[in-house]
Parts: sequence; structure tokens; C-alpha cells
Amino acid sequence: MDTIGVDIGGTKIAAGVVDEDGNLLAHTRRDTDPQDPAAIENAVVAAVSELRAQWDVGAVGVAAAGFISPRRDGVVFAPNIAWRDYPLRERLALGIDLPIVIENDANAAGWAEFRFGVAREARSMVMLTVGTGLGGAIVLDDMLLRGSFGAAGEIGHMRMVPNGHYCGCGHEGCWEMYASGRALTRAARNAIITDASRGQRLLELAAADGGKVKGPHVTAAAAEGDPLARELVIQLGHWVGAGIADLVAVLDPQIVVIGGGVAESGDLLLEPAREEFRAQLSARGFRPEAQLEIARLGNEAGIVGAADLARH
Ligand code: BGC
Ligand code: NA
Ligand code: ZN
Repeated sequence: MDTIGVDIGGTKIAAGVVDEDGNLLAHTRRDTDPQDPAAIENAVVAAVSELRAQWDVGAVGVAAAGFISPRRDGVVFAPNIAWRDYPLRERLALGIDLPIVIENDANAAGWAEFRFGVAREARSMVMLTVGTGLGGAIVLDDMLLRGSFGAAGEIGHMRMVPNGHYCGCGHEGCWEMYASGRALTRAARNAIITDASRGQRLLELAAADGGKVKGPHVTAAAAEGDPLARELVIQLGHWVGAGIADLVAVLDPQIVVIGGGVAESGDLLLEPAREEFRAQLSARGFRPEAQLEIARLGNEAGIVGAADLARH
């Protein structure tokens, strides 16, 4: 049975038809405003209708960036989208007459990497999605960990820094505030304030994009070799690796996959993450070390994973 996967992101929704082997057969997208739940729903319904006009599908999986209810029917809380105790499935069902399953976005992406991507040989995996926020997926002995109340794997909100930066979840010092696109944005703007001459390239990219410096400008400039941007990505890599050492202490996975938009930086992010992970790993030298790898399925992971999870 083919199914549809939908990925609700910060500025757009993407949807696709996926077969049982994880192949994306068709794809569509719509721009949306993350602060407007009704607009998000309209976009999802329109995208699903467009795909269904051409494809016969049995279910819809929706990946959403937030804490998902245990019955996989709604979002109880989202740090970066205006959802609070939100009955997303019920709302979408008004326009979609197929079984709908709501999934956490990082769980969906992680599941895709586990089933079809870089972790497909592993039996236990942790995945980090380093995007606007920092998401996590935990698979242990082939099982996606959901927790008692649906919210397992919310790794972005582990406290890394006492009295640190405020997070969208209302607390201070969350890992997400140091290892995400938002963190990159903040660090870049601060660096430019303290030394404008180093921020030339970032300011150019932002101006060409019609606004302020944001995370994607940093990853783009880093790819060109801009020294400040490279430094910022490397710093973020260290934060990523530090948190992974903690996760590995608790979960002992075979592989830790780093995905999300920031992972497009590849080795520039991965090398410092590995270095910091090794430096902070407990019992290092006396235990097998989990592999750290960049995700393979890129932007499509959320769609593919949500579609696959909708089948089960
Ligand atoms: C949210 C998670 C989400 C992650 C990535 C975090 O802020 O709490 O639910 O998976 O961002 O989008
Ligand atoms: Na998750
Ligand atoms: Zn938080």
C-alpha cells in the first residue's frame, strides 16, 4: 500500500507519495505561515488532494514539530509553532477522508533513516534533527521509543547550560538554544555586532534575501569558506557532540545520525561533533564507540518516515 507523508516545517509544508520500500513516487509543497494553524491545515489538505488526484493511497502520516499526544492524534505543545493542546488530526480529517496519523517530525525523519537511510543496518539509533529547533528520535532494538505519554525523544529540551538562553519551551539553557538553526542565527548576529568587519559576507547574503542574517545564510557562507561562518558551524558542532555524549551514556546506541538543515554542512559540522563526543564520552577507551554520521535522506526524511509510520 502506498501512503502519503506530510512534513510541516517552519515556513513550508512538503508532501509526497511513498511506497513500502521508502521510495518517494511524487512530491509537492506549499509555503505556509507557522504562526497560523488554519493556514497550515489548508495547505496540508490542498497538498494531499493534489497527490490523491493521481495516486491511490491508504493513509496519511503527518510529521509535526512538537510534543505529540499518546494517541498520535494531536500536538500537545510546540515550542516553535502556535499549537497548544491542538487536535490536529480532527482538524485535518475535515478535509481528508483517509486514516491520519500525527507523528513528531524528528521521530518521522529518524524512522526514515533507520528503515531506509544511513542507519538501516543498525538495530539501535539516535537521530538528531538540527533545524530551526533540535529534534530527536530514539530507536532501541528496532522499536521507535514513544514514551508513556508520546513525548519521548524531546532531546532538544535537555538542559545543557544552567541559567542559559531562554527557549521557546519556556525554560533556560535547553540544548536547542545551542545546537539548532536558531542558535546559529543568534550566534551570528552577536558575532556581527561585536565585529562587523567579519560579518561582511553574511550581511551580503542576508541583504540579497531581503532581511536579517539567519541560520541558512551561515551554512551557505560556511560552504563558501567564509571564516566567521565556518567558526560558527564548528562551534555548533561542538555543542552537538557534547550532548551526544550524554545521550550515549543513557541509551548506548550503535549509531547517532545528525540530520536537519544544518547537517548540510557535512564534515564541517560532523568533525567537531565527533571530537567533542569523544572528549566527553564516559568510559571511553573501555567501550565500543557509537558511530556519528550525517543523515542520508536529506529533506525528504520527514515525508518518507511519516508515510511509513502511517502504515503501522
Ligand atoms: C520540538 C520537537 C521537534 C524539534 C524539531 C523542538 O523544539 O520540541 O518536538 O521535534 O523542535 O523540529
Ligand atoms: Na522526537
Ligand atoms: Zn526548551
